[in-house]
Amino acid sequence: MISIKLINKKDIDICYELDSSTISLWSKRQWNDEYKKEGTKIFGLLLANLLIGICVFQVVLDEAQINYFVVKQEYRKRGFGSVLMIYLINQCEKLNIKRLLLEVSNSNETAKKFYSHFEFSTVGIRRSYYKDGSDAVLKEKKLTTK
Ligand SMILES: CC(C)(COP(=O)(O)OP(=O)(O)OC[C@H]1O[C@@H](n2cnc3c(N)ncnc32)[C@H](O)[C@@H]1OP(=O)(O)O)[C@@H](O)C(=O)NCCC(=O)NCCS
Repeated sequence: MISIKLINKKDIDICYELDSSTISLWSKRQWNDEYKKEGTKIFGLLLANLLIGICVFQVVLDEAQINYFVVKQEYRKRGFGSVLMIYLINQCEKLNIKRLLLEVSNSNETAKKFYSHFEFSTVGIRRSYYKDGSDAVLKEKKLTTK
């Protein structure tokens, strides 16, 4: 059974472990800092009791930014990322958020296709933004408030 839960402080280590086994974006300290950031919520996607996906998003006034989004490798291409994204969009709409924003590497074709699937559009480029020299593509999705 699939479910989504709000991650609390004691689950941060499990988030760090999933990150370390996937895209290795943040250190344990960065995960803890992220958790404490004002307006930040971390959602975990659970299959039975197993954490298979994470989304970190931050609300600033009527905008929200996705700072982290991952599905565990062996569970990809099975609709789980979509479950998490649909949940996130619904949450944003309930909070009257008007724009959902994110940054993705221009070389990350899979993620770009995923975000296009959810009708995110490109609103800017940050040249040579990532360590590997790739550009960051800024994307937004305009939301309808409920
Ligand atoms: C991006 C990511 C979260 C997608 O999760 P997922 O569970 O595999 O996505 P879904 O199965 O729900 O796919 C939804 C749609 O996204 C697109 N998509 C997802 N993976 C794709 C792939 N490998 N190739 C092409 N399109 C893809 C398709 O349009 C798909 O719809 P379809 O199945 O009807 O074709 C996952 O690949 C991931 O964790 N990647 C590594 C982390 C990452 O890059 N995060 C984004 C950083 S900004």
